[in-house]
Amino acid sequence: MRILVTGGRGFIGSYLTEKLLALGHRVYILDREINFADNPPSFRKAMLGRRKMLRRRPDAVYPFDIRSPRKLTEAMNKSRAEIVVHLAAVSMARPPKRYEHLMGPINLYGTLNVLNAFENSPFTRRLVFPSSSLAYGHYTRDPQPEESYLNPVNDYGIMKAACEYAIRMSKKEWVILRPTSVYGFTDCANRVTQLLLDAAVSGRPAWVIRGEALDFTYVEDVVNGFIKAIASKAAVRQIFNLSRGVARTADDFAGVLKTYFPKFIYEVRPPTHQEVSRGAQDMTKAKKILGFVPKSDIEDGIRKTLSLMVRFGGLPAGSVRLRK
Ligand SMILES: NC(=O)c1ccc[n+]([C@@H]2O[C@H](COP(=O)([O-])OP(=O)(O)OC[C@H]3O[C@@H](n4cnc5c(N)ncnc54)[C@H](O)[C@@H]3O)[C@@H](O)[C@H]2O)c1
Repeated sequence: MRILVTGGRGFIGSYLTEKLLALGHRVYILDREINFADNPPSFRKAMLGRRKMLRRRPDAVYPFDIRSPRKLTEAMNKSRAEIVVHLAAVSMARPPKRYEHLMGPINLYGTLNVLNAFENSPFTRRLVFPSSSLAYGHYTRDPQPEESYLNPVNDYGIMKAACEYAIRMSKKEWVILRPTSVYGFTDCANRVTQLLLDAAVSGRPAWVIRGEALDFTYVEDVVNGFIKAIASKAAVRQIFNLSRGVARTADDFAGVLKTYFPKFIYEVRPPTHQEVSRGAQDMTKAKKILGFVPKSDIEDGIRKTLSLMVRFGGLPAGSVRLRK
């Protein structure tokens, strides 16, 4: 199939592109290569890690901005993509202050541009869109199923929810996924998992919020879910949670890192009003309809992440003992 991936140079997008190419698809990337974490060295390192890790080249890369409807149409026409996977976004819930104003133009209006280009393209039949667990706001069920009321409590979640509603009006094929707390090698969007990993590796202290339970999901599992959403007939016009389906605390995540880096020190701080109270997502629907089976718990996912860091990320092999 011919597949256009917006945000294909990003964290999830780079793993997805590699996998799609390995499966024999033709992949076209639309990506401006921008990062909103305000940490240029970490971004450069992640981009270098991706270049070293990725073995395959996409069929074309369009350095376009999703804020330009004209450029989106150009990419759709040039690629003649049958499927669009729209990942490009300000991908963090709390970007630094100086980037906050970009969330509306990129996450909301940029996605509406993608939707509009998709609707008008004679080539494209399916749009796959990652929403987020933050579209739910505070979880109301344990585990949280897809049909739960969307009551987002931050701009990121509000815009993801709004985009879901807009996409659901399309008469063409669409699939909405709700990933959460994705982690792995080359993440550089200042998420708690990446901050803990960076601190453990570089010997800096870190902190976690007491009791903060998240459904940590290893990036390769998420990518397998995207592949199923792209290919499955039964996925059409459906919304799926896309995570491991198990709640673990950030404290647990840090604890696993400490088994590799015994000198790693982290403080457990009391919760503040800023956290969104989440937990496990209900994975029954994705398992039943998509046949989605997440493989890695955090023990396994962290081991895989560290192993990739040793191979492609400049982490000295002697600094960490990797268990088989
Ligand atoms: N990583 C997670 O935990 C997680 C969880 C839920 C949902 N998501 C969603 O999945 C998607 C991918 O997330 P990620 O972690 O890979 O993010 P990422 O920040 O690593 O990648 C986003 C990519 O989009 C590109 N981009 C941003 N704005 C652009 C624009 N205006 N025009 C063109 N390209 C642009 C960036 O250059 C980057 O390569 C996002 O939509 C994110 O909201 C991620």
